[in-house]
Amino acid sequence: MNNELEIDRKAVQNDLERSANFGMVDTDDGIGRTVLTGTPANFAARNYFVDQLVTAGLDVSVDAVGNITGRWSPPECDDSADPVAAGSHLDSVPEGGIFDGPLGVYAALEAVRTLKRGTQTVDRPIEVVCFTGEEGTRFADGVLGSSVATGKRSVEDALSLSDGEITLESALEDIGFRGEGRIDASKWDSWVELHIEQGMLLERAEEPVGVVSRITGTTRCHIHIEGEANHAGTTPMHDRNDALAAASELILTIESEAQDIANHESNSAVATVGSLNVEPGAINVIPGTATLDIDIRDVKHSSIDRILQTIKDACESIRKDRGLSVSIKTPYSIPPQPMTERVRNALRDGSERLDIAPPTLSSGAGHDTMQVADVTDAGMLFARSRGGHSHSPLEHTDWLDCAFATQVLTNAVAKLAGAE
Ligand code: HGY
Ligand code: MN
Ligand code: MN
Repeated sequence: MNNELEIDRKAVQNDLERSANFGMVDTDDGIGRTVLTGTPANFAARNYFVDQLVTAGLDVSVDAVGNITGRWSPPECDDSADPVAAGSHLDSVPEGGIFDGPLGVYAALEAVRTLKRGTQTVDRPIEVVCFTGEEGTRFADGVLGSSVATGKRSVEDALSLSDGEITLESALEDIGFRGEGRIDASKWDSWVELHIEQGMLLERAEEPVGVVSRITGTTRCHIHIEGEANHAGTTPMHDRNDALAAASELILTIESEAQDIANHESNSAVATVGSLNVEPGAINVIPGTATLDIDIRDVKHSSIDRILQTIKDACESIRKDRGLSVSIKTPYSIPPQPMTERVRNALRDGSERLDIAPPTLSSGAGHDTMQVADVTDAGMLFARSRGGHSHSPLEHTDWLDCAFATQVLTNAVAKLAGAE
């Protein structure tokens, strides 16, 4: 291990264990947390992170959509140079795990703490970044803070997003994280995100880390089927406009199309109907409306296009054959994103210093990095997920793997920052 840059693995573990307390949920097995954007748990997680940035002597700033930056610009570096940035997110899915997001945030902080402890000099500043709302559970469909930081969504548009009760602006104001201005990721020299793999490849390969080659494309659609609520007992079968029966047909069509593509064309193609809302939702009332949220992904865009076309065709049949009205919205569509060679090489070099040659793998999960890769050099390092579990309290990455991955990230950030 490059002793000059030896990380403090206990410091990373301590940060992650503290972070796990915020929004902790009771579970029979594992450790879970619910940290939705703008909630008291999010306030606590953010505050602890800011405290750690201040303790580490970094300059802290919060932008208009709550993205947090801790900047280190030592006297010997060119303060005007484009910074190297590293980080991830602190929000979670409901009853998610404690590593998805926080590992990348606190590993990035430890990289800077390690460099500050050492004697090497860097050519350019380094920024530790926590993006708002990566998971998209409460506001928008995900990667919210990074969509603003990469200019894909305006600050105004983001702040006006609502969870049905309050806007993002009010939620951020409530927790004191409605800052000023916005991060401009196009001004970064490069970006690196450490994240848990959330799959089984590294565990099967018995490898602690892997370098990401590309991130899957994701399209999310929201479908609303309007039928007619009516009496379950007195309405004959031929006289119904059952929204849920129509939705069920659609769901099975989506599943079989994705299965066919995965079996014959691209095994990374997936489609999920993650939520279904039926109204009025009573046992003795024929469902009047059904709303479905669909998540479609693949590293090949053609798969996503094909599944989307199948959905549109199926909706057309529902209109024609069942006489129901169907609306489709696809507010979120991010193409497959290759990682930048320069950053992949820095991660590979950072691994070789530890005498490992990490496998290359694609990401089936979406990440802020897929946004950042559009505006600057970007790359991702994965840490092994035990049993491939994620988005659940069973999510776990061994502390030794966390330490290993943090060390590789530190070596890569140092290299990108010109440390010597
Ligand atoms: O949904 C995802 O892929 C990510 O975990 N937000
Ligand atoms: Mn996630
Ligand atoms: Mn994540």
